Amino acid sequence: MLQTLHQTTGVGCGLSETVTCLCWSFLLGLSVALLWIPGAAGSALNCHKTCICASNIVSCSKMNLTGVPTELPPYTVVLDLSYNDIARLRAEWTPGKLPKLHNLLLSHNGLHFLSSEAFLNVKQLRYLDLSSNKLRLLDEFIFEPLAHLEVLLLYNNHISQIDRLAFTGVNSLQKLYLSQNQVSRFPLELVVDKSRLEKLILLDLSSNRIKILPTTELQALPAWIKNGLYFHNNPLVCGCDLYSLLAHWYIRKLNSALDFKDNYRCFLPPPAPPKTQVGVFELSSDYMNCSTFKQTDEEAFMEQTLTLSCDTKHKDMSKTWLMPGNVVVSAGGNQTAKVLPDGRLQISPVRPEDSGNYTCFAVSEAHNETLYVVLKVHNFTMNAGGDTLNTAYTTLVGCLASVVLVLIYLYLTPCRCFCCPNRVKKGGEDSIHSSMISVTPTHDDPTLKTELNRHVAFIDSKDLQGQNGKLNPNGDDEDLDEEASMLGKGRRKKSVAESISSVFSDTPMVV
Ligand SMILES: *[C@@H]1O[C@H](CO)[C@@H](O)[C@H](O)[C@H]1NC(C)=O
Ligand SMILES: *[C@@H]1O[C@H](CO)[C@@H](O)[C@H](O)[C@H]1NC(C)=O
Ligand SMILES: *[C@@H]1O[C@H](CO)[C@@H](O)[C@H](O)[C@H]1NC(C)=O
Ligand SMILES: *[C@@H]1O[C@H](CO)[C@@H](O)[C@H](O)[C@H]1NC(C)=O
Ligand SMILES: *[C@@H]1O[C@H](CO)[C@@H](O)[C@H](O)[C@H]1NC(C)=O
Ligand SMILES: *[C@@H]1O[C@H](CO)[C@@H](O)[C@H](O)[C@H]1NC(C)=O
Repeated sequence: MLQTLHQTTGVGCGLSETVTCLCWSFLLGLSVALLWIPGAAGSALNCHKTCICASNIVSCSKMNLTGVPTELPPYTVVLDLSYNDIARLRAEWTPGKLPKLHNLLLSHNGLHFLSSEAFLNVKQLRYLDLSSNKLRLLDEFIFEPLAHLEVLLLYNNHISQIDRLAFTGVNSLQKLYLSQNQVSRFPLELVVDKSRLEKLILLDLSSNRIKILPTTELQALPAWIKNGLYFHNNPLVCGCDLYSLLAHWYIRKLNSALDFKDNYRCFLPPPAPPKTQVGVFELSSDYMNCSTFKQTDEEAFMEQTLTLSCDTKHKDMSKTWLMPGNVVVSAGGNQTAKVLPDGRLQISPVRPEDSGNYTCFAVSEAHNETLYVVLKVHNFTMNAGGDTLNTAYTTLVGCLASVVLVLIYLYLTPCRCFCCPNRVKKGGEDSIHSSMISVTPTHDDPTLKTELNRHVAFIDSKDLQGQNGKLNPNGDDEDLDEEASMLGKGRRKKSVAESISSVFSDTPMVV
């Protein structure tokens, strides 16, 4: 290839002036030189100058590379490209498949672009380090080919947007590090429902910009997820729900709360001076009087089927139960209690004498936990649990009665005006409608007038539109506007006529 270029240049020299010839030679020389500069984009793998190759490990760290070396051997298992200048990871960074690549290290590169096809040829990746780069967003399906990925390092980037489908397909992911970014929304979809990453045991969202946590949803998660859910050093807004959440985690000795207790801080809400930051664990007494957290006991009614869960900090532990009085729950026994395959204890039917302190021993290769569950069984069945149910029933009946009364009021009251216009005229008013359109309201009381305006706005739409859109002669069309927004049916438009139709339209407009 180079030779042919040389020949062409030679022919060109013979034909044209020497200046052009010199120029060409210079350019050619330059390009040849560029090819030999270590670190030039897309240069072939050089196991002597730019990289260190140790059988299946290729390490090209700190070599000022601007592109991934080409012609990587297909047996590469570890590829270290950290501390270089690779700004973009294009689809064709590895033209051939690297079927054995398990570790890809790309930290400290100034990466700001990831092609949506960047990982198609490295589907066996287990460990991907993209930390300390300049990534801003994570697009949908970006990691989808990586079905075997277990650890993903994305800390210290500029990520502010995470698409809800960004981690679709990464079903083996166990550890996801997103700290030191600009994330402001808690990516709850990673830990709940169908979209959740089933094997995720560590999600680090510390040092981001999260203000509001979905505390109810987080509290409902199993302890082995919460144990690795880090969100310290975020500008959280103080609240007793936040205190209660963390206090519970702390009592359960969950790592996320235990290890970073002092790094959970929050901003006090308005009555306090702005930007007052306090420790979340100080909220109970000093700042917000949040009630001290107390773990609640399990309660059950006689004859119910009850399951007690052994909510361990670690996943996949084998669990054994001790009933009150140190009775071991055995597999084939004739006990009313039995251990379910997932480790929960089922008691059916439950009796008052089952009340007491239950112990769950959970053991795995690496860990060892003991949990206590205190159960109180009421001495009556759930149906006979009379009082509370009766109260609920009474409340329901009372509520229905009030609804009926309100309906009667709504439908019968205006009837006076429409069915018997004479009587209303005697009252000194033509109709609600006229009172609304007339420039000088017959009513002196402005609040009453507003009230009537609203009524008309709902009753008589065609007539109103017939008034050339002249809806509110007094110029204070704020009321209708407010009504529209209260109905959630549309944003106010410039044209009054439009705003009327938006108020009356039955199809809600998307705001
Ligand atoms: C990389 O670039 C820096 C600064 O330009 C230089 O000091 C360093 O020697 C280079 N490293 C290599 C391996 O070429
Ligand atoms: C907390 O409660 C105590 C006693 O109930 C009260 O004296 C104190 O003012 C309260 N503090 C705050 C911040 O509400
Ligand atoms: C279980 O069975 C054994 C013998 O079959 C009997 O002695 C024992 O009372 C039974 N226990 C219960 C709780 O029914
Ligand atoms: C349950 O029993 C254990 C061990 O005997 C004890 O440490 C724990 O305090 C008991 N829990 C309650 C609520 O009584
Ligand atoms: C569990 O831990 C306790 C104390 O830490 C220890 O005595 C016990 O042998 C451990 N059990 C297993 C099965 O590791
Ligand atoms: C349940 O309560 C009834 C009366 O309220 C009493 O007769 C019975 O002995 C109680 N049973 C138990 C197991 O406490």
